[in-house]
Amino acid sequence: MSTQAPVAPAPAEGTGAATIAEATTFEPVIIGFTCNWCSYRAADLAGTARTKYPPNVRLIRLMCSGRLDPTFVLKAFSEGADAVLVSGCHPGECHYIEQNYKALRRFQLLSRTIQALGIEPGRLQLVWASAAEGVRLAGEIARVTEEVRELGPLNWPAGEIVDIDNVTLEAAWEATGGDAGGPPETPGGANPQHAAESAEAAR
Ligand code: FES
Repeated sequence: MSTQAPVAPAPAEGTGAATIAEATTFEPVIIGFTCNWCSYRAADLAGTARTKYPPNVRLIRLMCSGRLDPTFVLKAFSEGADAVLVSGCHPGECHYIEQNYKALRRFQLLSRTIQALGIEPGRLQLVWASAAEGVRLAGEIARVTEEVRELGPLNWPAGEIVDIDNVTLEAAWEATGGDAGGPPETPGGANPQHAAESAEAAR
């Protein structure tokens, strides 16, 4: 008697609604920066209580939301994240007194910065969650995942923006509204035309 497990027949190519749905469902990658004392524990609680939330979020634990360096967010976007979720203790409940207020200020600045870089504000979200709010955090993760799914993949061309190796000095000068006199002849040096204008104005 054979002990081999039966092998399921391979599905025929291009058939079945499930195959099409699988191919078209976009699964966003979301990086979640969580506070050790509240939101990370809330996520842990959700797991312990078997409360389901989408596996799209990859949690990174910080000791406090105030530890969030703005570059962490930009690095996440530049390395392929479709969204970033920042989560910390409720205002007034930070274990480091008021660091989450600093996180809130950084979040607001980052939100404006990413919009200036062409990234939709919905791709950066802030959620307060206490250690006891596992179910609520799970719901918020599901909401953010759905919103980002609707936005679609980010594919942020960070390399083109951040990589300055191929940017000429002239192009950078024009991009920043430099005048027809052109950039300084030597990096860090004064534009000769500006120097002449200054001398003229001083007379
Ligand atoms: S300790 Fe949780 S946000 Fe500061």
